[in-house]
Amino acid sequence: MRRKNNLDLVICVFDNFLKTNFGGLVGSGRSNPAVGLVAVHKNEGLNSNGQLSGKLMRINHSGEVAAQGLYQGQLFFETDPVMRNYLERAGKEEADHLTWTAEYLTAKGARRSYLNPIWYVGSFGLAVFMQLQGSKKSRSFLAETERQVQAHLEKHLDIFPSEDNYARVILEKMFEDEGEHANWAEDDSSGNGVKEELSKFEKRAMGFMSKIMIETSKRI
Ligand SMILES: [Fe+2]
Ligand SMILES: [Fe+2]
Repeated sequence: MRRKNNLDLVICVFDNFLKTNFGGLVGSGRSNPAVGLVAVHKNEGLNSNGQLSGKLMRINHSGEVAAQGLYQGQLFFETDPVMRNYLERAGKEEADHLTWTAEYLTAKGARRSYLNPIWYVGSFGLAVFMQLQGSKKSRSFLAETERQVQAHLEKHLDIFPSEDNYARVILEKMFEDEGEHANWAEDDSSGNGVKEELSKFEKRAMGFMSKIMIETSKRI
């Protein structure tokens, strides 16, 4: 396959940005794991639990918007075919998450965060910055991101209304996928695995950014 030139790369990212934020992104083809449960919650409307779950899932949806920015950012200057293949495949699984969380919001009559384009651009920039520091840093960054997302999803599984099986099934599947993404990045069997720990500052900065995203996406 012809290597993409710079203009192709920019167009690809812009296309992904538009589809992530305004619809039309194609994932891996897996259907929503909670598909059988959609109808049960469809007419629930916005009672107090419905409102809470809508706000909570809006955060997860924003997280998946950020994930698209991250994967596109890591791909942007990446030339290693193994890394490219993996990022493209995992990016499609993240697109599934984006679709499932968006479907949940629609079923609940809840809106998406207005700040999503900002999360996308911020995550893209951060991922480009990390990837330019080399493949080990890039993989360590991927692993750390996915582990932080898993920790966040675990918290959400605790605070989502317990009767909301529709949300729980989606969150559990996402937790499993993020774990696989992290495992891949941490796998050292190829000799290319994670050797470069992120600095305390980098880990804290990532945690801080996600905290801002969580607090603002819930409201705006
Ligand atoms: Fe995800
Ligand atoms: Fe992931």
